[in-house]
Formats: sequence, C-alpha cells, structure tokens
Amino acid sequence: MSPCVYVVLVLSTCAVVQCAHASRSPLNMSFVYPVARRDESVVDDYHGTKIHDPYRWLEDPDSNETKEFIEAQNKITRPFLDACPVKADISARLTELWNYPKYSCPFRRGDRYFFYKNTGLQNQNVLYVQDSLDGEPRVFLDPNALSADGTVALSGSRFTEDGSTFAYGLSASGSDWITIHIKDVATGEDYPEVLEKVKFASMSWTKDNKGLFYSRYPDASGKADGSETEVNRDQKLCYHRLNTPQSEDVVVVEFPEEPLWRIGAEVSDCGRYLLVSPVRDCRDNLLYFADLSKHPEITGLLPLTQIVHKFEADYEYISNEGSVCIFRTNKNAPNYQLIKIDLHDPAEEKWQTLIPEHPRDVLDWASAVDNDKLVIHYVRDVKSVLQLHDMKSGELIQTFELDVGSVVGFSGKKKQTEIFYHFMSFLSPGIIYHVDFTKKPYKPTVFREVKVKGFDASQYEAKQIFYSSKDGTKVPMFIVSKKDLPRDGSSPALLYGYGGFNINVQPSFSVTRLVFMQHFNGIVAIPNIRGGGEYGERWHNAGRLLNKQNVFDDFQAAAQYLVTEGYTRPELLTAQGGSNGGLLVAACINQRPDLFGAAIVQVGVLDMLRFQKFTIGHAWVSDYGSSDNKTQFEYLLKYSPLHNIRPPDNEGRAQYPATLVLSADHDDRVVPLHTLKFIAALQATAATSPAQHRPLLARFDTKAGHGGGKPTAKVSKSDRIDKPRHKSRHCYH
Ligand SMILES: *[C@@H]1O[C@H](CO)[C@@H](O)[C@H](O)[C@H]1NC(C)=O
Ligand SMILES: *[C@@H]1O[C@H](CO)[C@@H](O)[C@H](O)[C@H]1NC(C)=O
Ligand SMILES: *[C@@H]1O[C@H](CO)[C@@H](O)[C@H](O)[C@H]1NC(C)=O
Repeated sequence: MSPCVYVVLVLSTCAVVQCAHASRSPLNMSFVYPVARRDESVVDDYHGTKIHDPYRWLEDPDSNETKEFIEAQNKITRPFLDACPVKADISARLTELWNYPKYSCPFRRGDRYFFYKNTGLQNQNVLYVQDSLDGEPRVFLDPNALSADGTVALSGSRFTEDGSTFAYGLSASGSDWITIHIKDVATGEDYPEVLEKVKFASMSWTKDNKGLFYSRYPDASGKADGSETEVNRDQKLCYHRLNTPQSEDVVVVEFPEEPLWRIGAEVSDCGRYLLVSPVRDCRDNLLYFADLSKHPEITGLLPLTQIVHKFEADYEYISNEGSVCIFRTNKNAPNYQLIKIDLHDPAEEKWQTLIPEHPRDVLDWASAVDNDKLVIHYVRDVKSVLQLHDMKSGELIQTFELDVGSVVGFSGKKKQTEIFYHFMSFLSPGIIYHVDFTKKPYKPTVFREVKVKGFDASQYEAKQIFYSSKDGTKVPMFIVSKKDLPRDGSSPALLYGYGGFNINVQPSFSVTRLVFMQHFNGIVAIPNIRGGGEYGERWHNAGRLLNKQNVFDDFQAAAQYLVTEGYTRPELLTAQGGSNGGLLVAACINQRPDLFGAAIVQVGVLDMLRFQKFTIGHAWVSDYGSSDNKTQFEYLLKYSPLHNIRPPDNEGRAQYPATLVLSADHDDRVVPLHTLKFIAALQATAATSPAQHRPLLARFDTKAGHGGGKPTAKVSKSDRIDKPRHKSRHCYH
C-alpha cells in the first residue's frame, strides 16, 4: 500500500506524540532543508505596492530546477515519515479496518439495477448490474482493470432514459481532464468514439436516447494532461450523436464574448427542453432554455430564450410539468427555496414560490420522485433532515426519521416508484434505506447495513457543541472520541476545517479517524466555520471576500475552545485542511503558531495574489476576490499564507507547528506551485530560525491530483462511495 493512505495520520500522530515527549528535551530535528534560489528581480506592482515574488521560477512545473526542488523535498520528508516508530502498526491497522465492503445506493435505469461497490481495498469502486434487486450482481464496469496502478478513475456518467446506453468519463492520475466513452449496456461493448478535451462537463442525453449534450474545451496548443497550469477558457456545449466520431459533433451553445464561462446543461424530465446554465465563478448562474421539440435534428447552434439575466443567485432545475419548471434557488432566500417558472411566461414577476425558504434550515437539494412528489434534503444545524413533499402544493407529506448524521447518497426518479437513501454518521459506516411508494404507509426499510470488523460504536461518542468565535458568533462543532476520556488536556486532537464556497462539512464515517481515536485516544473535532453553507448563503457570505478573516478566527476559536475545555493542549493539537481548507490551516499557523502542535496543509491555495491566473483559479474570485482589485488586494495581502510567514523568535513569536504540506503533480485544480512557493518561503524564513525546532516539510505525490478519483491507496478522509449530490455541482475548488 502506498504510504499516502496513512501519511496524514502518521505525521499528525507522530508529530504530536513526539512533541508531547519533547516538552522537557526539545526535539532534535537536524534537517538540512533544500535551499531554494531567490530571484530578487521578480517584483510586481499592485496598485502602487511593490511585492517581491522570489520563487516565481517554481511556477514552471516543467523546468528541471522545479523538478529537482520537488525531489529534494521528498528526499527529506519520506525518511522522516518512514522513521515514525508506529508507522508500520498504523499501516497494518488501517489496512485491516479499511477492508470492509462499501456500497452505494442502488439505482434503476431501464429495467436493470446498478450500484457501486468496493470490496474493501480495491483502488476504484466497481459498477455492478443486476436484473432485479435480489438478482445476482455482475460486474458492469471495473475501472481497476483500466490501469495497472489504479490511477484511472470513473469521473461522471449518465445513462440514457431507457437504460440502453451508458456514457462515462475517465480521468487519469487525478486530473480534472476526462475522456467520455460510451457503452452499449446489453452487450457491454464500447462504441468506437471517444470524446476528448472534456473538463468541468455536464452530460445529458436527449430523451430519444440518440445523442448526448456535453461541454468541452477547444483543442489546446500545449499539453493538457493535468500537469499544465494554463487558464481553461472557451468552453462550449456540444451535441454528440451516438455511434459517430467526435469530429462530427456540433456546437449547440457558446458565448464567445465570455471565454471564462462554463456551460451546464440538462434535458428536462419530459425531454422537451434543454436548460442551459452558464456559470462564471463559484456561485450564481444565468438561465436559458431551448425548445428541443422545434429541432428534431440538432445540426448547430440552438436558439436560446434567456430567463435569468444577472449573476446574482443560484438556479438549479429540479423537474417540470409541461412548461412549468421547478427550480431550487437562493434568489431572495438565503436558505434556499423551490420556485416555479413557466418557460413560456418567464418574467420574474410571474414566478411562484412552491416551498418557501425555511427560517433556519437550509434546503440543500430536492429530487422529483414517484410522479408527483419531491424528496427534500434539509440541513438543520449541520445534520440531515429528509422529507417527502407534494409536488403540486409543496405540502409536507412525511418526514423520514434519521439518526444524527448525514444523507450521503440518494437515488430515485420522477418516473420511478421507489427511492434509496444512504445514511452515514461519525459512528455509523452506512445504512442504505429503501422506500417503496406502491405500498402505503410509506415506510423506509433497511436495504443494507455495513459493519466494520473491530469497531464497536458503543465505545465512542459524537457530540455537537456550540462555541463563541472572536466576534461572539456561535459556531457549531462536532467532537468525536472514545467515551469518558479525561478532560485534563492529555489527549491528542485533530481539528479539521474547510470554511468556504458554501460547502457543508456534515458528519461522515472515516476509518483513518477511527484509528486515531482507537489507538491514540485521539479526539476528532470538526467546527462548521463560516464560509461554509451550513446556515445558507448568510453563513457563506460571512466568510468570503472582505469577511474571510472570520473563517480563520472561527477556526482559531475552535482550537482555543478545545484547550480551554481540557480536551487537549496546543502541543497535542493538529490542524488539518485541504484546498480552501489548506488555505485555512496555512493562514492560521501564520497568525497563531502557538495554538497548534502540528499542521497538515493539503493541496492548499496559498498564493492569494496570483491564484486566479492558473487553470480554474479564476472561478474562486467569488469567494476570495482578486488582487486585480485594489481593496481586495489589500485585504488578500493581509492573510495570504505565502506573504505572511514570519520567523519565530525566543520572545513573543512561537515556533511553527510541525508542518506537512502536500501536493501532487497532476493537481490541475489547485496547481502545485502554491505548495512549492509556500514551502520554499517557509523553510527559508522559519526553518532557519534557531527558535524553530519542529520540522517544516513538504511531500509531493506523483500520478495524483486534487483528490477526486483517487485510488484507495491514496485516499485518507471519508469512506463514502456515493457520488455526492451536491448543490455546488458547478463549482470546482
Ligand atoms: C542532534 O543530532 C545530531 C545528529 O544525530 C547530533 O550530532 C547532535 O549532537 C544532536 N544534538 C543534540 C542537542 O542532542
Ligand atoms: C533537463 O534535464 C534533462 C535530463 O537530465 C536534460 O536532458 C535537459 O537538457 C535539461 N534541460 C535543461 C533546459 O537544462
Ligand atoms: C473591488 O472590491 C470591493 C470590495 O470587495 C468591491 O466593493 C468593489 O465593487 C470591487 N471593485 C470592482 C471594480 O470590482
């Protein structure tokens, strides 16, 4: 098994355990850090402020100098991690625990059922088919067979309405680029065509089962395998006719004046309309539709009718009856509501509310089922609430009782009379429920329950507390650990946060965290800090743009709470976060190095002055703002992790926690240059100080990306395999 699985855990536990024992004899970490060349000639002028960027050369992923720097980092990091005395034990235990079968919800397409399964340690989940729910499952698509090392992953798929044809995306080495392949379901044979240059794609079949709408980028001049950093531009929506070469595809929607827009599209449940939703960054979309009944042959650009003209809210198509469509939106409803828009009379004054915004609970997603009903998923104080409503009146029919936790998977369609949903919590590895709407009363039955050998949930507790942040805001936090641990500050703790992009961090089951709790008496703490979507758009807004510092304050207040309440002490506390959460952790160790004993920064966004210049980075300006704007520049400069590293001294300023920054060569979401420049600066500034005893390390993975489609050997966080049903499906961060 690759060390990647447990590296996060190993380092955090090793670092905290070693640091704990080092309270009397300081750690002797005599690293010889690689010295990165400083190029003082690179100076940018931002609105009159001169900013040096001495490690600009590390932005070139292909230069020999960059490659040598990466190698030099790995060369000191790997032996350090390998030397961790408990690493082998952790590895063995993790492998053992991980080896339990994981299932997604079954879903019906045509007259067959499909589901994803991982027998335990398989790199990629396998798609199975069965003729009935209790029929014998057969392998339908096994991505493990597509590459020797398990780095080819299934990324996006769509069946035709009749279930006869299956379009599926494959990505290599964790890149966001995919190729779309198409399979004849009955024979299992692939059609000859392969659709290329696809990234951030929506896929939707016409209901005559003859062709696929998908979005693609133009042929690139340079390489496009996920190791490049160029901005993605000029996405177009295309129509592909089954069993024809991609060269015959036609462009059906484009916005040549708007090279940065990404174009989502979906064919309505009834098949008549194509709903087109361009998105510019990570919130808000426009809305158009085309009437496909007027274009029985799709031969070129489709005439569009525009419904939403301004980027000011999200609109997500749910279903329709005739020309009246149901959308989920946060227009005038920060906690989201369902509205009806008549496509043939779409003026905003004519819109009707179907299910009004709830004052407290966030309407997270909705799905049409059983012809005239809606299943609605609410998030109430970070926990899932699942309800059934009448599609015509919007009225509540019933609530499906759930334990404290999350609905992580769902399947059901308007034309089907049953649903499945997948429940998970910190202490429950997964229960899949089934509801059959042909039988009244509607009663969920347990379809499948997963057990993990060697895990006894009754020995653990998961609780939710609310703590006060710096400005007095009450922030929820989950705290999970063995029952009855002493509250004397003697337990190691892992503080995980994200805090951005309207994302909810809901409870989930994780074997990695379990090992930490079981074998190190570890405490796992997950604060639902601002910037996330746990309390709707208000919570998100309170943590973005010129409010971003709230996110860091919330995280630091969580750390403070754990210490004050005796759960742990700073030397034993590890901060962990990835992507936007990597930014969080890096900013927090710059601002309050004294609060943490260790920090894990995964694929972080760390150069806040230049992130928008690479791949899809420009989409994040809706959360971060941009250095192109003077006010935002001044704000970004105050927290940008790369620009706020200060050396520890023996007076007031504490040393940095033991820090591990992680990235990968095929991360084309948050390109590795963030991590490269940050570690170069951190080692040059802090590691050279005599007051810095703890290690400051980086590790770069190969043939890996941002995290999606990772083989099991490289995954470390949660054990869910359902595709998340996510409201921010247009966003990539
Ligand atoms: C630290 O380790 C090095 C190399 O093992 C050794 O030479 C040195 O004496 C040690 N220093 C202390 C203070 O223990
Ligand atoms: C980079 O390294 C390769 C292999 O060592 C060598 O062939 C190549 O000439 C080098 N390129 C430059 C620009 O130095
Ligand atoms: C610059 O940023 C500020 C603060 O976010 C914002 O109010 C202003 O509209 C921005 N200016 C432009 C030209 O986008």
